[in-house]
Amino acid sequence: MGVGAHWRAAGRSKITAHRADRRSGLSQQQKCYELVLKSTCSSVCVVTVSFLLFLGVCLLYLPDPFTPEPFVYEQNREVTLLIWTHPFGRYRKLPDCFALYQIDGCSLTDDERAYPQADAVIVHHRDVVTGIADLPLEPRPRAQKWIWMNYESPAHTRRLWGFEGVYNLTMTYRTDSDIFLPYGYLLPRERSAKDLQNRFAQPLRAPSRSHILRPRLLAWVISNWSESHARVTFYHQLRRYIQVDVFGRAGRPLPEDSGGSSVVRLVGRYQFYLALENSQHTDYITEKLWNAVRAGAVPVVLGPSRQNYERFLPPEAFIHVDDFPTVRVLAQYLLMLRRNPARLRRHLDWRGSYSMHQPAFWAEHYCTACRAVRRTRGRTDAVKDLTRWFHS
Ligand SMILES: *[C@@H]1O[C@H](CO)[C@@H](O)[C@H](O)[C@H]1NC(C)=O
Ligand SMILES: *[C@@H]1O[C@H](CO)[C@@H](O)[C@H](O)[C@H]1NC(C)=O
Repeated sequence: MGVGAHWRAAGRSKITAHRADRRSGLSQQQKCYELVLKSTCSSVCVVTVSFLLFLGVCLLYLPDPFTPEPFVYEQNREVTLLIWTHPFGRYRKLPDCFALYQIDGCSLTDDERAYPQADAVIVHHRDVVTGIADLPLEPRPRAQKWIWMNYESPAHTRRLWGFEGVYNLTMTYRTDSDIFLPYGYLLPRERSAKDLQNRFAQPLRAPSRSHILRPRLLAWVISNWSESHARVTFYHQLRRYIQVDVFGRAGRPLPEDSGGSSVVRLVGRYQFYLALENSQHTDYITEKLWNAVRAGAVPVVLGPSRQNYERFLPPEAFIHVDDFPTVRVLAQYLLMLRRNPARLRRHLDWRGSYSMHQPAFWAEHYCTACRAVRRTRGRTDAVKDLTRWFHS
């Protein structure tokens, strides 16, 4: 509306100019020049005024990050994150967050003498309940934040109730954590190229013919065999209908260095992989799934609901045990896919448009936490109802 009003005002000034000319005794030629001059000037004015107005409107609606921040200095100051324990008591060299992830302004330390100056302390839950360490001593320095870090499921997280009203931020695999970092995630292919923290993302490949026609059918790697786990009950039923190659303590031996990459190489010979979580909880989807994705085997999943998995993966990227009325029907489906490469391809074609990333334990966790501490600086945070939240 403002712009329209200016256009109208400019029109009026042109009319006034005509009237003034009639009164003066200037020659026709002079009048003509003057008229051209004036109308040129007024169009220039109109254009200028409209441009300035447009600029004003633009400035008014600029997105937040571009408005000047009053605490620029405070935001740029480096923060110190104290790593309270090396998870499971295993020492690891602390990472350089800038060199690895282009996260700057982070100073990581595992020296507890830094406690009085630390902006935040990150505590791995498992280590304070197994007695590797106690919590830091209260009173904590003002403005210091304590971060509760946990990557176990609720079923394997002990003594949670002892930590109510203690922490300021949560860091877990749950999407609704204050600091969310899952066991793995997908990125649309074009985004992973731009995103600096995700230089490590690995492009997935669309399936080739040999990919579809892998020699072996179905594998399962299981280290903690417990008859009380739903996954073991499921396995007992499944093996009645389909061949399952079991690796790990309870089955065939794993390749020598049983790190993540050798599991991936092993699983890479199979069409399907059982990604069965040890317990079923919100967002609790572990490296079992991501190793299968990396290996190009179609994961058969037992964990949270299908809907929950779809927060992380396209619907066709996995086969959910709940999709079938019985374990037998599931087995029949897998055998049908083996006979129908075109149908199997439907579970793999999505790969062409994605990269995947498995965050590195624990380097990436520390750096991600540190970035969050910088971003929430000056804010007071409290974790309320830790137990109820984590079990929800
Ligand atoms: C293995 O499973 C049992 C039974 O659920 C559990 O108590 C134990 O903590 C698990 N061990 C590991 C290493 O996860
Ligand atoms: C951190 O949490 C504690 C306990 O709830 C609280 O007393 C403290 O004010 C919090 N500090 C910050 C900086 O959020």
